[in-house]
Amino acid sequence: MCGIVGATGLNQVLPSLLRGLEKLEYRGYDSAGVYVNGGDAGGFLVREKGRVSMLEAATKNKNITGTAGIAHTRWATHGGVSVENAHPHMSEDGRFFLVHNGVIENYEELRETYLQGVKLHSQTDTEVAVQLIDKFSRENNMSTFDAFRQMISLLDDNSAYGFLLMDNETPDLLYAAKKKSPLLIGVSEQGNVVTSDAAAMLDVTKDFIELMDGEVAVIDKEKVSLFDAQGNQITRDSFHLDIDASETDKGIYPYYMLKEIDEQVVVAHTLAQYYFDEAGQIRNIDDKIIEAIKAADRLYIVAAGTSYHAGLVGKRYFEQWTGIPTEVHISSEFAYDQPLLSQHPFFIFLSQSGETADSREVLDNIVKQGFPSLTVANVMNSTLTREADFALPLLAGPEIAVASTKAYTAQIIVEAILAHAAGNSHVDLKNELAKAAVEMQVIIDQKAAFKTIAEEALRGHQSAFYIGRGLDAAVAVEAALKLKEISYIQTEGFAAGELKHGTISLIEEGTPVFALLTQSKTAGLVRGEIAQVAARGANTVIISGKSLAKKNDAFVLPDVNELLMPLLTVIPAQLIAYYATLDRNLDVDRPRNLAKSVTVQ
Ligand code: F6R
Repeated sequence: MCGIVGATGLNQVLPSLLRGLEKLEYRGYDSAGVYVNGGDAGGFLVREKGRVSMLEAATKNKNITGTAGIAHTRWATHGGVSVENAHPHMSEDGRFFLVHNGVIENYEELRETYLQGVKLHSQTDTEVAVQLIDKFSRENNMSTFDAFRQMISLLDDNSAYGFLLMDNETPDLLYAAKKKSPLLIGVSEQGNVVTSDAAAMLDVTKDFIELMDGEVAVIDKEKVSLFDAQGNQITRDSFHLDIDASETDKGIYPYYMLKEIDEQVVVAHTLAQYYFDEAGQIRNIDDKIIEAIKAADRLYIVAAGTSYHAGLVGKRYFEQWTGIPTEVHISSEFAYDQPLLSQHPFFIFLSQSGETADSREVLDNIVKQGFPSLTVANVMNSTLTREADFALPLLAGPEIAVASTKAYTAQIIVEAILAHAAGNSHVDLKNELAKAAVEMQVIIDQKAAFKTIAEEALRGHQSAFYIGRGLDAAVAVEAALKLKEISYIQTEGFAAGELKHGTISLIEEGTPVFALLTQSKTAGLVRGEIAQVAARGANTVIISGKSLAKKNDAFVLPDVNELLMPLLTVIPAQLIAYYATLDRNLDVDRPRNLAKSVTVQ
C-alpha cells in the first residue's frame, strides 16, 4: 500500500509534498516522511510516526527550503510502526533517498547475498533496496540510473514496487520505477511531479504520463525521460484528467464519510444519465461487453471487502435478468484456490480503487488462462481497468474515507444496469433508479434518527448483529463491516435463518440485533427470527420496508422495487456506523490498521 509523491522544479517543494501526502493518507497512515533537496547538509530528511499532520508539525521551524523532494505515507508491511521504518530510507553514506510502495518478497535473500557487513537501521525491505543502489554505485562504479536498474533486476517475480529515488549528487533529478503498484508522472510548466494517485497532485497539474510495469523514468524540472525494461528510451503522450481538485476536499463536512454518504444520491442520478439515453435505452456500454456476457455460461464476480458485498447483491440481478448462473468470489481466496470453472466463464471484477492486489492476482491468472473479463471500477486508468478486456466506470467521484460507501451503491447500480442490458428484464430500470435516488435522499435527510438509534442501541456495547434474508442478508454483511471497521464494535452480518444453527448462543441480555426486513417473500420468517432473538434478551432494532413495516419498527424505509432495496437499506447502516463511531470519539475517516487501497496481498 503506502502513498508516494515527489516533485522537482517547484519554487518551494515542501508545501506541495505535504498537501499531496494528506490526499494520499487513505493509502496508509502509520508513519510519514519527506526528503527535500537544498540546505548546507545536502538535504532535509524528516520522518514521524503517525499521521501526515505530525510530519507537518515536525517540519515547522526547520526552515526547509528546496525545489525537489520525495515523500511517503506508510501502511506497515515489513517492520513495525516506528520512525526508523518510516520512509524515505537513506543509504549508509547519506547519498541516496528512496520511497517505496509495494513489497520486495526476496529482500532477506538480497540482504544476505549482497549486504553482509552493511549496518541496516530498519526492518524494512525498502532499506535493503536503497543500500543495494548505494553498493552498486560505489563498488561497481555504476551511474545512479544503472544502479537503480540493477537493484530492480534482482527483485523476484512476486515483488511489487513503485519506487521514487533521489541522489543528492544530482539534487534536481527524480528516478521512478514501477511494477504492479501505480505510479503517474505529472507534467506542468512550473515543474514535474510523480505520484501514486493523480488526486494528490491536482494542485500542481492535471496532465499525467502513465508509467508502465518494468519501466524507469528520470525526471527533472523540464523533461521526463522514459525507458522500457530493457533500458531503451521510449516516448508516451500525457493524458489530461478532467477533475476538479475541490472534488477531493471535505468542504463543509466534518468527515469525508458523511460527505460520501450524502453524495450517493448524486451518484445514482449521474449513473442513470450516463448509462441511459433520453428514451431509456442503454448507452455507453460497448456491445462487445453485452455479447461477451450473453456468450457466457456462467458469470464470476470477483472482489474484496465492500466490493465483494456489492457482488453478493449484483448476483441476484444477473441471475434474475440474464438467466446466467452467477458466482461471487473473494479475490484473495480465488487467487490461490481457483474453483472448477464452467466451459465459458466471464469474469467481472468490482473495485473502487482498481488497484486491489488480491483482485489483480486473480485477473492475472485468468488472463493467462485466456478467459474474458470486465472491470467495473471507480478509478479508471487503474491497473484492473487497464488489464481487463473491458472496463466500465462507477462515476462516484473520489472516495476518500477508508470505509467505502458511495462506491458500494454505485457498484450495485452498475451491476443492475449491466444485467438489465444483457438480459430481458421488464423492469423500467431507468425510472426505478430515479425513484430509488429520490428515496435515498429522503433517508439521508433523516440523519438525526440514525444518530439516536446508534447512541441508544450501541453505547456501551462491544458486539452486535445485523440479520436478514436474501438481499437483506447480502446487505447485512456490508452493514456489519461498516460498523465494525470504524467503531471497532465486533459485528456479525448473518443470514437470519442460520442463527439458530449455532450463533444464537451469543445472544444475551441487551445484545443489539439490527434486523433488515425488505423482502416480502421472507418477511414473515425474519419476523420469526427477530422474535427468537428478542425472546433471548436481544435489543432488536428493525429497519423495514414500508409495505412490510409494523408499529414498533425503529425505521421504516420508503418502498422501491424490491430488488433495488439494498440501495436504501445500506444507508441507515452507513449512518449508524458513522454516528456510533462519533459517539466513541474515534476518527471516522481513518480507522486503525487500515488503508483505503489495499495494494498488498
Ligand atoms: C471497506 C472497504 C474495503 C474495500 C476493499 C476492496 O469499507 O472499503 O473492504 O472494499 O478493500 O477495495 P476495492 O474496492 O478498491 O477493490
